[in-house]
Amino acid sequence: QEDNFKNVISHAKEYGFIFPSSEIYDGLSAVYDYAQNGAELKKNIREYWWKSMVQMHENIVGIDAAIFMHPTTWKASGHVDAFNDPLIDNKDSKKRYRADVLIEDYAEKLNQKAQKEIDKAKERFGEAFDEGQFVTTNARVMEYKAKQREILERMARSLGNEDLADVKALIEELEIACPESGSRNWTEVRQFNLMFGTKLGASADSAMDLYLRPETAQGIFVNFLNVQKSGRMKIPFGIAQTGKAFRNEIVARQFIFRMREFEQMEMQFFVKPGEEMKWYDYWKETRLKWHLSLGLGKENYRFHDHEKLAHYANAAADIEFNFPFGFKELEGIHSRTDFDLKAHEQYSGKKLQYFDTEENRNYVPYVVETSVGLDRMFLAVFSNSLVEEALEDGLTRTVLRLPSVLAPTKAAILPLVKKDGLPEISRKIVDELKWDFNVAYDEKDAVGRRYRRQDALGTPFCITVDHQTIDDETVTIRHRDTMQQDRVKISELRAIIANDVSM
Ligand code: GAP
Repeated sequence: QEDNFKNVISHAKEYGFIFPSSEIYDGLSAVYDYAQNGAELKKNIREYWWKSMVQMHENIVGIDAAIFMHPTTWKASGHVDAFNDPLIDNKDSKKRYRADVLIEDYAEKLNQKAQKEIDKAKERFGEAFDEGQFVTTNARVMEYKAKQREILERMARSLGNEDLADVKALIEELEIACPESGSRNWTEVRQFNLMFGTKLGASADSAMDLYLRPETAQGIFVNFLNVQKSGRMKIPFGIAQTGKAFRNEIVARQFIFRMREFEQMEMQFFVKPGEEMKWYDYWKETRLKWHLSLGLGKENYRFHDHEKLAHYANAAADIEFNFPFGFKELEGIHSRTDFDLKAHEQYSGKKLQYFDTEENRNYVPYVVETSVGLDRMFLAVFSNSLVEEALEDGLTRTVLRLPSVLAPTKAAILPLVKKDGLPEISRKIVDELKWDFNVAYDEKDAVGRRYRRQDALGTPFCITVDHQTIDDETVTIRHRDTMQQDRVKISELRAIIANDVSM
């Protein structure tokens, strides 16, 4: 698994998808740049989301709010007070950890220990092995599993109560349960605010302290009434937005999974109070369907219903994806009640209410939110698509089996040789197709190598122009996944490609 993840990172760099930010200065931790192919893939994911959420829903509109917001926004949203992570420092290693991440790692270690026992027993008992029975009767496995459950419950409880002394005690206890991790020397647990601060205005005394937004959602809440009135929206309706968000993450790791500057794709759905659970269920299901439509495999998704709720929610679930480092959160679906709109009413002194003509009354709508990280979607799609394939001739090929609809380049046009007029015909095909698709032209190296390169870039089609093309205006079209080649008329190319890559 670890090797697989390393491959993902190096492939992303080698083929121009993702570079470490400001690499010539040795990079910036947890900040990344999208390169020429990465920017295309990311844009296509964003468009795929936008189309399904905005274009396909009559009652959802999209906006693009500013990153800078009035500082009171973050008081109202609760981020100034509550957007904190519990941190703990290790005095020996001088490393800093997020306490909850550290505890989850320990819980996972216990789980792995239990699994090891099960695997050992499987080897020992062979065919006769009954896993269910073994798990319920084997004392060691029961102990590991029970401890794992217990610590996660205790963590949820103590973090919920912000009982930080208890969090530290739990970590110390876990070291005893996992002695192989080595004994450590911890500081107290502290809360740390994740928002980046900056200043608006030039002179020091008149400058206003601002935050870079840690979520895009608040730009939607503060515009709720503007959009509702100007768009004559009727409840239930949604406002969608994609854009950058910033968090000073403490534990920055796992490539683009947890970044300090990242992009969210969020939608707030405004509903009648009392109907939020119906819509919460609806959006859970609808969002999962959207993910499944990309064809990355049903078995790679699961829901995780939250027990510990954020300060604004009365129900919350994650859609988790099987990343190269295991199942982790990809998208959050939250029932946010009327928390945000009510808070903004209170802090701004402005009414943020909806007049329901059917019921002939005003109310503050409830909100169901769907929030997916664009970079995490990128990592899910990219890591899932990258495969090493064994070929019949004993060789292997690296292929990026991206969903065609998301592929950065839809077709590469390749003259078989660099002479006899074949480059000119190829250029003509490029000029025709580029109005509709992102296409590439490549005449360097043997054609087999050019195919491999396009496979590694995830290009669904290679179109080869050869000497027969001069006679009959046909070309070969090669399919990335099957490597099958068909002879088709140049005039058919547009329809063939469109059929495969259209959203
Ligand atoms: N408005 C709700 C909200 O922001 P969240 O669970 O904190 O909820 C939503 O974030 C999604 O944003 C996550 O599911 C994840 O995909 C993405 N996300 C959050 N923090 C991130 C980070 N540091 N790097 C990359 N993506 C992140």
